[in-house]
Amino acid sequence: MDHPLIQHKLSMIRDENTSAKDFRELINEVALLTAYEVTRDLPLQSRTIKTPICQTEGKFLSGRMIAVVPVLRAGLGMVEGILTLMPAAKVGHIGLYRDPETLEPVEYYCKLPVDIEQREVIVVDPMLATGGSAAAAIGFIKKRGCKRIKLMNLIAAPEGVKFVQEAHPDVDIFVAALDEKLNEHGYIVPGLGDAGDRLFGTK
Ligand code: PRP
Ligand code: URA
Repeated sequence: MDHPLIQHKLSMIRDENTSAKDFRELINEVALLTAYEVTRDLPLQSRTIKTPICQTEGKFLSGRMIAVVPVLRAGLGMVEGILTLMPAAKVGHIGLYRDPETLEPVEYYCKLPVDIEQREVIVVDPMLATGGSAAAAIGFIKKRGCKRIKLMNLIAAPEGVKFVQEAHPDVDIFVAALDEKLNEHGYIVPGLGDAGDRLFGTK
């Protein structure tokens, strides 16, 4: 995303001196702005409406309903911003953490809307690092019969984008920034550090 507002807010998010309060607010703001692009292809249908002046054809969202699925924990930090834009969306949760030694995703929770297979699903997580967590989350959702899935991240490493694209070539990935690389601990460089810890103050 090259929108100046997104770039400005992302730089504030990256800054280690940004407070937890500002970090949380900015993540939600960037999530909202990114969701605007992610939903650009939603179908519309016309309906006749009457303005105070005359009758006209108004365009309204039609058909596919949305489910937002944050990957716990850090994905939670993006949900409020997205729901500001799409208050009728349903929210599912997938709990995964990266094993700090192997960097492999470990599942601990999964609760999705009952009608998820009929919805367009937006999987959200601020960080796409190795891509293991996102690919696993998308895999769970596909097992529930979903065919239309998008992935939305704030910051991605090229390694993670490649991994998800190879595992799920049908899933479009929307990122606010594509960073340089991963370091030897699996952190994105320059990145923003540990998104979950910065959101929830756990370190
Ligand atoms: C972070 C992040 C992603 C994952 C990305 O979560 O929010 O879910 O790492 O890494 P990957 O692409 O290499 O899988 P983490 O595992 O730290 O859990 P947390 O959100 O509970 O802090
Ligand atoms: N998870 C994070 O929170 N940050 C990274 O840089 C990589 C994975």
